[in-house]
Amino acid sequence: MKTYNVITIFPEMIDAVFKQGVVSKALEKGIISINPVNLRDYAEGRHLVTDDYQYGGGAGLVMKPEPICEAVAALREKSNTFVVLLDPRGVKFNQKTAEKFATDYDNITFICGRYEGVDERVRQLVVDMELSLGDFILTGGEFAAITVIDSIARLVPGVLGDETSADDESFTTGMLEYPHYTRPVEYKGLKVPDVLTQGNHAEILKWRRDKALEITRRNRPDLLDISLQDIESRKKICAEQKRGLSKKLKLNVALMHYPMRDKQGDIVATAVTNLDLHDISRSCRTYSVEKYYVVTPIKAQREIASRVIKHWMNGFGSTYNPNRMEAFAHTELKESFSESLLDIEKRHKQRPLIVATTAKANKATITARQLGVQAEQQPVLLIFGTGWGFADEVLETADYIVEPIEGVGEFNHLSVRSAVAILLDRITEI
Ligand SMILES: C[S@@+](CC[C@H](N)C(=O)[O-])C[C@H]1O[C@@H](n2cnc3c(N)ncnc32)[C@H](O)[C@@H]1O
Repeated sequence: MKTYNVITIFPEMIDAVFKQGVVSKALEKGIISINPVNLRDYAEGRHLVTDDYQYGGGAGLVMKPEPICEAVAALREKSNTFVVLLDPRGVKFNQKTAEKFATDYDNITFICGRYEGVDERVRQLVVDMELSLGDFILTGGEFAAITVIDSIARLVPGVLGDETSADDESFTTGMLEYPHYTRPVEYKGLKVPDVLTQGNHAEILKWRRDKALEITRRNRPDLLDISLQDIESRKKICAEQKRGLSKKLKLNVALMHYPMRDKQGDIVATAVTNLDLHDISRSCRTYSVEKYYVVTPIKAQREIASRVIKHWMNGFGSTYNPNRMEAFAHTELKESFSESLLDIEKRHKQRPLIVATTAKANKATITARQLGVQAEQQPVLLIFGTGWGFADEVLETADYIVEPIEGVGEFNHLSVRSAVAILLDRITEI
């Protein structure tokens, strides 16, 4: 059971408010307990004084420290409690704090100020957190405590009838909520938007999202800034993790030009292209691939490719664009697939896992993410085909076939360099 204590000089106020509504039912069921603590029970003297004039002069009374501290001590004797002072000087209350309170604490004590507020030493001695409802002044902390308890209580499992109804509201989604309508369909000339009465759920979802965004932009653009800040911090965390990953990955890529199928299904050697040389080298460097092998048995093709690479590594290109030199630093030409395998085995003293790529979903045996995890444990050679796809003999040597990249329409013919880039991004996704 969750317990909310409220230290106040007006305990009846708290009782009265929670006699009605959803929270009263949760109290009856024993899911939560709200416990008003009469501050006067801890006051001394004939008049049970809880406030006094302030030092230094100035209008208004201040709540004395002794009764409040003793009330807290008495509660803490019974159970561990998180003590919150309601005060305009506190941090601003919001839905995130409500969620944290509802999940992280079983027992919370709220101290309600009155007059000019509480003696400063209360904060120093017993308060864990100071909380404000917003930039305005109330006559007493009870109004704030009631509001805060109400918003926490409804998040405690079992308090709301339908457990999901707290999921979709303003602030929970990072935006204000969309407009709601009920019957009648037309009232004083104002009609319920057609989209809501036509039963197309995808359209309704879209309308609600658009409206939520429109209202948030208009009334609370600051909320959108907060979501952007979240994106910023997520980006930072991902960047750090990705940098860590770059040191662990044992991933290698081979672009196969033989044995490939042509349009008729015959086995052929395809031509090396300048675009694939450049772009795949750059993608591989970007994703910390150990080596990019360009595999062709045709000597003349390897010679042309070698001239291109040399131009950027040692020739004029190396001074004209040193980035390219860096991109090509891990690109190698190989006569056969087994030559690239051997090269990896020599470096790692271990045979790499051979993973083929295909456009056919039904052949896939590993997801991109799983492959990323594997490539942290052992060397991997990820092979890409050209022409009309691999000859069967290549697929048969593969330990796994990675899931294909799906577009959004019927047309699905990515260039191999696009497929390499997309797959590398998915494999290294954090
Ligand atoms: C009249 S107010 C005191 C205001 C105080 N002198 C000041 O200017 O910050 C009396 C009590 O109401 C409560 N209160 C007033 N405004 C509040 C707010 N925005 N959020 C939380 N509690 C508030 C606090 O418990 C406060 O001690």
